[in-house]
Amino acid sequence: MTDRIPAARLERLLLAAEVPNNGNRAVRVGELCLLVCNADGQFHVVENRCSHQKSPLEGGRIRRGHLSCPLHGVRFNLSTGEPLGALTRVPIRTYPVQIIDGFVAVELRDSGARPTGG
Ligand code: FES
Repeated sequence: MTDRIPAARLERLLLAAEVPNNGNRAVRVGELCLLVCNADGQFHVVENRCSHQKSPLEGGRIRRGHLSCPLHGVRFNLSTGEPLGALTRVPIRTYPVQIIDGFVAVELRDSGARPTGG
């Protein structure tokens, strides 16, 4: 069971309809680079930076709840951030997600992020 996140702590990123099935879109919030991923209709938000060589994860293939890094192919579990394979053992950061009024919203508590506004 998951607890619902109070709306006041959420940042709306983009419309869920803007992210194709098994696709992803990068979003900046302040200094944070985030990646919104649609895994068969399940939305996830992760940091848009691979833990192997810091390459952006945008455009990576999504299959069975995992995102593949476009550069060397490490696969990350979109729910936990944990990597598969030998290139890195460092997980990527994941963020709690809710869909609010059709928007993908994410909790940015403890991230240090400041919304850029308008
Ligand atoms: S930079 Fe992502 S797997 Fe190497």
